[in-house]
Amino acid sequence: IFDNPVLGSHYAAQEIARLILEKQAQQLPCVLGLATGSTPISLYKELVRLHREEGLSFHNVITFNLDEYYPLPKAAIQSYYSFMYRHLFSHVDIDPLNIHIPDGSLPKEAVKQYCQQYEQWIEQAGGIDLQVLGIGNNGHIGFNEPGSSIFSKTRLVTLDNSTRMANARDFQNISQVPRLAVTMGISTILKAKRVLLLAWGNKAPVVARSVEGHVTEQVPASILQQHNDCTFIVDTLAAAELT
Ligand code: F6R
Repeated sequence: IFDNPVLGSHYAAQEIARLILEKQAQQLPCVLGLATGSTPISLYKELVRLHREEGLSFHNVITFNLDEYYPLPKAAIQSYYSFMYRHLFSHVDIDPLNIHIPDGSLPKEAVKQYCQQYEQWIEQAGGIDLQVLGIGNNGHIGFNEPGSSIFSKTRLVTLDNSTRMANARDFQNISQVPRLAVTMGISTILKAKRVLLLAWGNKAPVVARSVEGHVTEQVPASILQQHNDCTFIVDTLAAAELT
């Protein structure tokens, strides 16, 4: 629990930087799973600072983003593809060939096979070393909405109305928010060797349900209680309802 999101983000950035350097020392790739949304923006800002001011290189980093709206062209300013370049990838020395973001612009008949391919790419990279997550007010992780199976893999999903409402801030109005998304599954996330979930501000009720409530598919983040190396990094506001 940190006093504010900046301190929590710095802590997360330090852990990620340590892992990248450790892998570099062993001449191994460092495979990161990444999230979008408002929560990780301060984390990416600190990683960019570490690159610019402290020489942290991303040359051995391979990334897999959690999710993308469907359908949405990559070039749309609301796409998670655009988000990642705006906040991180354009500012560090990552090899563009090492970046994987679910493609929200494929024809529908191609999506299923693409999702299987995405899972294979993760496996071929050696699995995710560290997965960064945010959390939705309904407990979603990635776009795995309440009711998602613990066995779910990367797939096309329907967004909850509450998710579309929360994300309408990035669009002209709610009718513009895509109804579908491609997301890594719960099982994909659980396979990551280490998980960092970040939550700030008004997430206190769902943080408490996830950490202290029953493990249930109705609160997807609660399933992380069964992961053996998961840390929730929260600020005092988001921690307010923990007992
Ligand atoms: C985004 C993602 C989502 C968000 C969640 C919280 O890639 O996977 O689960 O982390 O919706 O969003 P923010 O951070 O905007 O509150």
